[in-house]
Amino acid sequence: CFSPELLPLYDLRGRVAVVVDILRATSSIVTALASGVTHVFPVAELAECQALGEQHGCLTAAERDGRAAEGFDLGNSPFGYLDGVLPVRGRAVAISTTNGTQALRRSLAADAVVVGAFLNLQAVEEFARAQHKDVVVVCAGWKGKFCLEDTVFGGALAERLCDTFDVSSSDSTIAALHLWQQAKADLHGYLLQSAHVRRLNSLEANKDFEFCLRVDEYPAVLPIWKEDRLVALQA
Ligand code: MLT
Repeated sequence: CFSPELLPLYDLRGRVAVVVDILRATSSIVTALASGVTHVFPVAELAECQALGEQHGCLTAAERDGRAAEGFDLGNSPFGYLDGVLPVRGRAVAISTTNGTQALRRSLAADAVVVGAFLNLQAVEEFARAQHKDVVVVCAGWKGKFCLEDTVFGGALAERLCDTFDVSSSDSTIAALHLWQQAKADLHGYLLQSAHVRRLNSLEANKDFEFCLRVDEYPAVLPIWKEDRLVALQA
């Protein structure tokens, strides 16, 4: 069964968790690994992020309420890994965000934890198809609340997997599919109504919004949880 959970209340044991925070944590993590970052330590607390930076000599990335947190190398924009201001290739990154890294940490009871975004939708689809286990899309949302973009992603993934999974077995999947079918012709236009898009645009992060909606920009990059970190699954 396939179920994009609107709140992370689902028992993940024996299942595959696809953690998604389109704006912007999982989009940034996919972009980081696509840009040569070797591995990512997603943590809940800022102090932990700082400590990992000191212990491991890794880069630190932190965001709270949509803004870069003070005293860290990077915020939570995917452009931090693309604009070349800070060399990231060959480096590890410790990251802490308002919602996305919390959702990741809460999902570790799952048999497998992978990171999903529109940027790597194909990689997530191919992994899920090969697992022969239930798939739960863990939508990070915003501070424990539903967010449009994460659930629209769940619907996009459900549509891609409808030949392999029963995508009519849960109301959340049916709702997510309907949202995706409403949005897919003009994803950017549809998501302009999202609360976080409005929040980001007020923070002049609207170029992040555009970038995070690029479907399959990185079709082969799949961040997967291994021991204590996220690494790019090797094909
Ligand atoms: C989050 O993890 O809460 C989001 O990515 C927030 C953001 O970066 O705007």
